[in-house]
Amino acid sequence: MSELNIGKAPPAATTVIFGEALVDDFVTEQLVGGAPFNVARHLAAFMAPHLMITRIGSDRNGAVVRGEFERFAMSEQGLQIDAMEETGRVLVERRGNGHRFVILPRQAYDFIDPQLALAAMGAVTPSTLYFGTLAQRAQRSREALRTLLAATGASRFLDLNLRENQVDRACVSASLDAADIVKLNEEELESLFQWYFQIAPGTPLASEEVRAACRALLDKFQLEGLILTLGHRGSVYFGADGQLIVHRDNPAPPFVIDTVGAGDAFAAMFLLGRARGWALETTLSRANEFAGAICAVSGGVPRDIGFYDKWVSRWKAG
Ligand SMILES: Nc1ncnc2c1ncn2[C@@H]1O[C@H](COP(=O)(O)OP(=O)(O)O)[C@@H](O)[C@H]1O
Ligand SMILES: [Mg+2]
Repeated sequence: MSELNIGKAPPAATTVIFGEALVDDFVTEQLVGGAPFNVARHLAAFMAPHLMITRIGSDRNGAVVRGEFERFAMSEQGLQIDAMEETGRVLVERRGNGHRFVILPRQAYDFIDPQLALAAMGAVTPSTLYFGTLAQRAQRSREALRTLLAATGASRFLDLNLRENQVDRACVSASLDAADIVKLNEEELESLFQWYFQIAPGTPLASEEVRAACRALLDKFQLEGLILTLGHRGSVYFGADGQLIVHRDNPAPPFVIDTVGAGDAFAAMFLLGRARGWALETTLSRANEFAGAICAVSGGVPRDIGFYDKWVSRWKAG
Protein backbone atom coordinates (compact mmCIF):
# COMPACT_ATOMS: atom_id res chain seq x y z
CA MET A 1 0.00 0.00 0.00
CA SER A 2 2.94 2.32 0.59
CA GLU A 3 3.20 3.31 -3.07
CA LEU A 4 -0.12 5.09 -2.66
CA ASN A 5 1.66 7.61 -0.46
CA ILE A 6 4.31 8.51 -2.98
CA GLY A 7 4.14 12.17 -3.80
CA LYS A 8 1.61 12.84 -1.07
CA ALA A 9 2.29 16.12 0.74
CA PRO A 10 2.96 15.84 4.46
CA PRO A 11 -0.03 16.84 6.59
CA ALA A 12 -0.23 20.62 7.01
CA ALA A 13 0.60 21.97 10.45
CA THR A 14 -2.67 23.08 11.98
CA THR A 15 -3.52 25.78 14.49
CA VAL A 16 -5.94 24.26 16.98
CA ILE A 17 -8.33 26.71 18.62
CA PHE A 18 -10.08 25.60 21.78
CA GLY A 19 -12.98 27.34 23.47
CA GLU A 20 -16.29 29.11 23.24
CA ALA A 21 -18.35 29.94 20.18
CA LEU A 22 -21.35 31.96 21.26
CA VAL A 23 -23.93 34.52 20.36
CA ASP A 24 -23.75 38.07 21.68
CA ASP A 25 -27.38 38.94 22.18
CA PHE A 26 -27.99 42.67 21.73
CA VAL A 27 -31.80 42.26 21.98
CA THR A 28 -32.21 43.99 18.61
CA GLU A 29 -29.57 41.88 16.88
CA GLN A 30 -27.46 38.80 17.43
CA LEU A 31 -23.75 38.70 16.61
CA VAL A 32 -21.68 35.55 16.64
CA GLY A 33 -18.65 35.87 18.90
CA GLY A 34 -16.50 34.13 21.44
CA ALA A 35 -12.85 35.13 21.38
CA PRO A 36 -11.63 31.72 20.18
CA PHE A 37 -14.24 31.62 17.44
CA ASN A 38 -13.24 35.11 16.30
CA VAL A 39 -9.63 33.94 16.05
CA ALA A 40 -10.61 30.77 14.18
CA ARG A 41 -12.72 32.67 11.65
CA HIS A 42 -9.89 35.09 10.89
CA LEU A 43 -7.49 32.18 10.35
CA ALA A 44 -10.04 30.48 8.10
CA ALA A 45 -10.45 33.67 6.06
CA PHE A 46 -6.68 33.65 5.45
CA MET A 47 -6.95 29.98 4.54
CA ALA A 48 -4.62 28.89 7.30
CA PRO A 49 -5.08 25.27 8.38
CA HIS A 50 -7.15 25.44 11.55
CA LEU A 51 -9.27 23.27 13.80
CA MET A 52 -11.92 24.91 15.99
CA ILE A 53 -12.84 22.75 18.97
CA THR A 54 -16.06 23.85 20.62
CA ARG A 55 -19.54 22.72 21.58
CA ILE A 56 -22.90 24.26 20.68
CA GLY A 57 -26.50 23.34 21.34
CA SER A 58 -29.07 21.85 19.03
CA ASP A 59 -31.01 25.12 18.87
CA ARG A 60 -31.51 28.28 16.85
CA ASN A 61 -28.35 29.99 18.03
CA GLY A 62 -26.46 26.80 17.28
CA ALA A 63 -27.68 27.03 13.70
CA VAL A 64 -26.46 30.64 13.57
CA VAL A 65 -22.99 29.59 14.78
CA ARG A 66 -22.96 26.76 12.24
CA GLY A 67 -23.82 29.29 9.58
CA GLU A 68 -20.51 30.98 10.40
CA PHE A 69 -18.62 27.69 10.00
CA GLU A 70 -20.16 27.53 6.54
CA ARG A 71 -19.60 31.18 5.64
CA PHE A 72 -15.90 30.80 6.47
CA ALA A 73 -15.65 27.30 4.93
CA MET A 74 -14.36 25.93 8.24
CA SER A 75 -13.80 22.32 9.13
CA GLU A 76 -16.52 21.00 11.46
CA GLN A 77 -14.33 18.13 12.73
CA GLY A 78 -14.00 19.75 16.15
CA LEU A 79 -17.59 21.00 16.36
CA GLN A 80 -19.60 19.14 18.99
CA ILE A 81 -23.38 19.38 19.26
CA ASP A 82 -25.01 19.03 22.65
CA ALA A 83 -28.53 17.64 22.70
CA MET A 84 -29.43 19.24 26.05
CA GLU A 85 -27.42 22.37 26.75
CA GLU A 86 -27.96 25.74 25.09
CA THR A 87 -25.57 27.35 22.66
CA GLY A 88 -23.46 29.92 24.47
CA ARG A 89 -25.04 33.33 24.84
CA VAL A 90 -23.91 36.63 26.29
CA LEU A 91 -26.55 39.27 26.98
CA VAL A 92 -25.36 42.71 25.96
CA GLU A 93 -27.11 45.79 27.26
CA ARG A 94 -26.28 49.16 25.85
CA ARG A 95 -25.53 51.65 28.62
CA GLY A 96 -24.95 55.18 27.40
CA ASN A 97 -21.78 54.95 25.34
CA GLY A 98 -20.76 51.58 26.72
CA HIS A 99 -22.08 48.07 27.12
CA ARG A 100 -22.82 45.78 30.00
CA PHE A 101 -22.23 42.09 29.43
CA VAL A 102 -24.01 39.28 31.23
CA ILE A 103 -22.18 36.03 30.61
CA LEU A 104 -24.73 33.28 31.19
CA PRO A 105 -23.77 30.20 33.22
CA ARG A 106 -24.06 26.57 32.06
CA GLN A 107 -23.79 26.81 28.31
CA ALA A 108 -22.94 24.17 25.73
CA TYR A 109 -19.33 25.43 25.56
CA ASP A 110 -18.94 24.37 29.21
CA PHE A 111 -19.44 20.74 28.16
CA ILE A 112 -16.76 20.13 25.53
CA ASP A 113 -16.22 16.39 25.51
CA PRO A 114 -12.56 15.48 26.16
CA GLN A 115 -12.52 12.31 24.07
CA LEU A 116 -14.28 13.85 21.07
CA ALA A 117 -11.91 16.82 21.28
CA LEU A 118 -8.93 14.51 21.42
CA ALA A 119 -10.15 12.51 18.45
CA ALA A 120 -10.59 15.70 16.41
CA MET A 121 -7.10 16.89 17.28
CA GLY A 122 -5.74 13.40 16.53
CA ALA A 123 -6.78 13.82 12.90
CA VAL A 124 -4.47 16.83 12.37
CA THR A 125 -0.86 17.76 13.07
CA PRO A 126 -1.13 20.58 15.59
CA SER A 127 1.52 23.29 15.46
CA THR A 128 -0.04 25.65 17.99
CA LEU A 129 -2.85 25.24 20.50
CA TYR A 130 -4.76 28.46 21.28
CA PHE A 131 -6.81 28.71 24.47
CA GLY A 132 -8.29 31.25 26.84
CA THR A 133 -9.84 31.17 30.28
CA LEU A 134 -13.63 31.51 29.82
CA ALA A 135 -14.08 27.97 28.48
CA GLN A 136 -12.24 26.70 31.55
CA ARG A 137 -14.80 27.97 34.04
CA ALA A 138 -16.60 24.60 34.17
CA GLN A 139 -15.08 21.25 34.97
CA ARG A 140 -15.92 19.36 31.78
CA SER A 141 -14.38 21.80 29.30
CA ARG A 142 -11.43 22.40 31.63
CA GLU A 143 -10.86 18.65 31.54
CA ALA A 144 -11.10 18.67 27.73
CA LEU A 145 -8.42 21.34 27.48
CA ARG A 146 -6.21 19.49 29.95
CA THR A 147 -6.56 16.36 27.83
CA LEU A 148 -5.51 18.23 24.69
CA LEU A 149 -2.57 19.91 26.42
CA ALA A 150 -1.35 16.54 27.69
CA ALA A 151 -1.63 14.96 24.25
CA THR A 152 0.36 17.41 22.16
CA GLY A 153 3.77 18.99 22.10
CA ALA A 154 2.34 21.88 20.05
CA SER A 155 3.24 25.36 21.14
CA ARG A 156 0.66 26.84 23.56
CA PHE A 157 -0.77 30.30 22.99
CA LEU A 158 -2.85 31.75 25.81
CA ASP A 159 -5.01 34.83 25.38
CA LEU A 160 -6.09 35.45 28.95
CA ASN A 161 -9.27 37.36 28.10
CA LEU A 162 -10.24 37.61 31.76
CA ARG A 163 -13.95 38.15 32.27
CA GLU A 164 -15.14 39.21 35.68
CA ASN A 165 -16.20 36.40 38.03
CA GLN A 166 -15.78 33.67 35.42
CA VAL A 167 -12.55 31.98 36.49
CA ASP A 168 -10.51 31.91 39.66
CA ARG A 169 -6.88 32.62 40.28
CA ALA A 170 -5.99 28.92 40.34
CA CYS A 171 -7.26 28.58 36.78
CA VAL A 172 -5.27 31.62 35.66
CA SER A 173 -2.12 30.28 37.29
CA ALA A 174 -2.57 26.84 35.73
CA SER A 175 -3.15 28.47 32.33
CA LEU A 176 -0.03 30.60 32.63
CA ASP A 177 1.92 27.52 33.71
CA ALA A 178 0.74 25.64 30.63
CA ALA A 179 1.40 28.48 28.18
CA ASP A 180 4.44 29.23 26.04
CA ILE A 181 3.19 32.57 24.75
CA VAL A 182 0.73 34.81 26.56
CA LYS A 183 -1.24 37.78 25.21
CA LEU A 184 -2.86 40.19 27.60
CA ASN A 185 -4.14 43.74 27.71
CA GLU A 186 -3.30 46.39 30.27
CA GLU A 187 -6.21 45.60 32.57
CA GLU A 188 -5.27 41.94 32.64
CA LEU A 189 -1.67 42.84 33.35
CA GLU A 190 -2.85 44.91 36.30
CA SER A 191 -4.70 41.89 37.69
CA LEU A 192 -1.62 39.72 37.37
CA PHE A 193 0.58 42.36 39.01
CA GLN A 194 -1.86 42.54 41.88
CA TRP A 195 -2.06 38.77 42.32
CA TYR A 196 1.56 37.82 41.86
CA PHE A 197 3.51 40.90 42.90
CA GLN A 198 1.11 42.69 45.26
CA ILE A 199 1.18 45.84 43.15
CA ALA A 200 -2.07 47.70 43.87
CA PRO A 201 -4.36 48.42 40.89
CA GLY A 202 -4.19 51.96 39.62
CA THR A 203 -0.58 52.34 40.73
CA PRO A 204 1.06 54.46 38.04
CA LEU A 205 3.81 52.25 36.74
CA ALA A 206 6.76 53.92 35.17
CA SER A 207 7.53 51.94 32.05
CA GLU A 208 10.76 50.60 33.59
CA GLU A 209 8.72 49.04 36.37
CA VAL A 210 6.23 47.55 33.92
CA ARG A 211 9.08 46.08 31.94
CA ALA A 212 10.68 44.62 35.03
CA ALA A 213 7.36 43.14 36.15
CA CYS A 214 6.73 41.64 32.69
CA ARG A 215 10.18 40.08 32.79
CA ALA A 216 9.32 38.69 36.24
CA LEU A 217 6.14 37.14 34.78
CA LEU A 218 8.15 35.57 31.95
CA ASP A 219 10.49 34.01 34.51
CA LYS A 220 7.80 32.96 36.96
CA PHE A 221 5.82 31.06 34.32
CA GLN A 222 8.78 30.14 32.11
CA LEU A 223 7.25 31.74 29.07
CA GLU A 224 8.81 32.03 25.65
CA GLY A 225 7.09 35.35 25.05
CA LEU A 226 4.61 37.77 26.53
CA ILE A 227 2.60 40.20 24.41
CA LEU A 228 1.08 43.22 26.06
CA THR A 229 -1.47 45.02 23.87
CA LEU A 230 -2.09 48.67 24.59
CA GLY A 231 -5.25 49.55 22.66
CA HIS A 232 -4.65 52.41 20.22
CA ARG A 233 -1.11 52.72 21.60
CA GLY A 234 -0.03 49.46 19.99
CA SER A 235 1.76 46.56 21.63
CA VAL A 236 4.95 45.40 23.30
CA TYR A 237 6.50 41.96 22.94
CA PHE A 238 8.81 40.60 25.62
CA GLY A 239 10.86 37.54 24.68
CA ALA A 240 12.50 35.15 27.12
CA ASP A 241 15.78 35.80 25.33
CA GLY A 242 15.62 39.47 26.36
CA GLN A 243 14.02 40.57 23.11
CA LEU A 244 11.82 43.66 23.32
CA ILE A 245 9.74 44.72 20.31
CA VAL A 246 7.66 47.86 20.66
CA HIS A 247 5.04 48.89 18.11
CA ARG A 248 3.75 52.34 18.76
CA ASP A 249 3.63 53.89 15.33
CA ASN A 250 0.85 51.83 13.76
CA PRO A 251 -1.02 53.51 10.97
CA ALA A 252 -4.24 54.62 12.71
CA PRO A 253 -7.45 53.11 11.30
CA PRO A 254 -9.45 55.60 9.20
CA PHE A 255 -12.07 55.65 11.97
CA VAL A 256 -13.04 53.51 14.94
CA ILE A 257 -16.53 52.03 15.16
CA ASP A 258 -15.85 49.77 18.12
CA THR A 259 -12.85 47.94 19.53
CA VAL A 260 -14.77 44.67 19.96
CA GLY A 261 -12.54 41.76 19.00
CA ALA A 262 -9.40 43.89 18.50
CA GLY A 263 -7.41 41.57 20.73
CA ASP A 264 -8.72 38.51 18.89
CA ALA A 265 -7.74 39.96 15.53
CA PHE A 266 -4.29 40.64 16.96
CA ALA A 267 -3.99 37.08 18.29
CA ALA A 268 -5.15 35.62 14.97
CA MET A 269 -2.50 37.49 12.99
CA PHE A 270 0.14 36.51 15.51
CA LEU A 271 -0.82 32.87 14.99
CA LEU A 272 -0.96 33.32 11.21
CA GLY A 273 2.54 34.81 11.25
CA ARG A 274 3.86 31.86 13.22
CA ALA A 275 2.14 29.40 10.89
CA ARG A 276 3.58 31.15 7.83
CA GLY A 277 7.04 31.66 9.26
CA TRP A 278 6.99 35.47 9.14
CA ALA A 279 9.73 37.28 11.04
CA LEU A 280 8.53 38.23 14.53
CA GLU A 281 8.87 41.95 13.77
CA THR A 282 6.71 41.57 10.67
CA THR A 283 4.18 39.44 12.52
CA LEU A 284 3.71 41.98 15.30
CA SER A 285 3.48 44.89 12.91
CA ARG A 286 0.83 43.09 10.85
CA ALA A 287 -1.06 42.03 13.98
CA ASN A 288 -1.29 45.67 15.04
CA GLU A 289 -2.35 46.86 11.64
CA PHE A 290 -5.01 44.21 11.15
CA ALA A 291 -6.37 44.65 14.69
CA GLY A 292 -6.65 48.38 14.00
CA ALA A 293 -8.62 47.65 10.84
CA ILE A 294 -11.04 45.47 12.81
CA CYS A 295 -11.78 48.54 14.96
CA ALA A 296 -13.18 50.16 11.82
CA VAL A 297 -15.83 47.46 11.35
CA SER A 298 -18.79 46.80 13.60
CA GLY A 299 -18.18 43.78 15.87
CA GLY A 300 -15.20 41.45 16.05
CA VAL A 301 -15.55 39.76 12.67
CA PRO A 302 -16.59 41.52 9.46
CA ARG A 303 -20.02 40.82 8.02
CA ASP A 304 -18.59 41.16 4.54
CA ILE A 305 -16.05 38.45 3.84
CA GLY A 306 -14.66 40.66 1.05
CA PHE A 307 -13.03 42.64 3.90
CA TYR A 308 -10.23 40.09 3.91
CA ASP A 309 -9.33 40.29 0.19
CA LYS A 310 -6.96 43.20 0.54
CA TRP A 311 -5.14 41.68 3.51
CA VAL A 312 -4.91 38.22 2.01
CA SER A 313 -3.42 39.51 -1.23
CA ARG A 314 -1.05 41.92 0.53
CA TRP A 315 0.43 39.22 2.73
CA LYS A 316 0.24 36.10 0.63
CA ALA A 317 3.80 36.46 -0.62
CA GLY A 318 5.05 35.97 2.97
N1 LIG B 1 -8.53 52.43 19.06
C1 LIG B 1 -7.64 51.68 18.41
N2 LIG B 1 -7.01 52.16 17.31
C2 LIG B 1 -6.11 51.39 16.66
N3 LIG B 1 -5.78 50.14 16.99
C3 LIG B 1 -6.36 49.60 18.08
C4 LIG B 1 -7.33 50.34 18.85
N4 LIG B 1 -7.75 49.54 19.85
C5 LIG B 1 -7.06 48.38 19.71
N5 LIG B 1 -6.22 48.41 18.65
C6 LIG B 1 -5.35 47.32 18.17
O1 LIG B 1 -5.80 46.11 18.74
C7 LIG B 1 -4.81 45.54 19.61
C8 LIG B 1 -5.49 44.88 20.79
O2 LIG B 1 -6.29 45.83 21.47
P1 LIG B 1 -6.47 45.84 23.05
O3 LIG B 1 -7.61 46.73 23.34
O4 LIG B 1 -5.15 46.17 23.69
O5 LIG B 1 -6.78 44.31 23.38
P2 LIG B 1 -8.09 43.57 23.90
O6 LIG B 1 -9.09 43.67 22.76
O7 LIG B 1 -7.63 42.19 24.13
O8 LIG B 1 -8.52 44.31 25.12
C9 LIG B 1 -3.89 46.69 19.95
O9 LIG B 1 -2.60 46.23 20.27
C10 LIG B 1 -3.92 47.48 18.65
O10 LIG B 1 -3.08 46.88 17.70
MG1 LIG C 1 -8.57 40.54 24.96
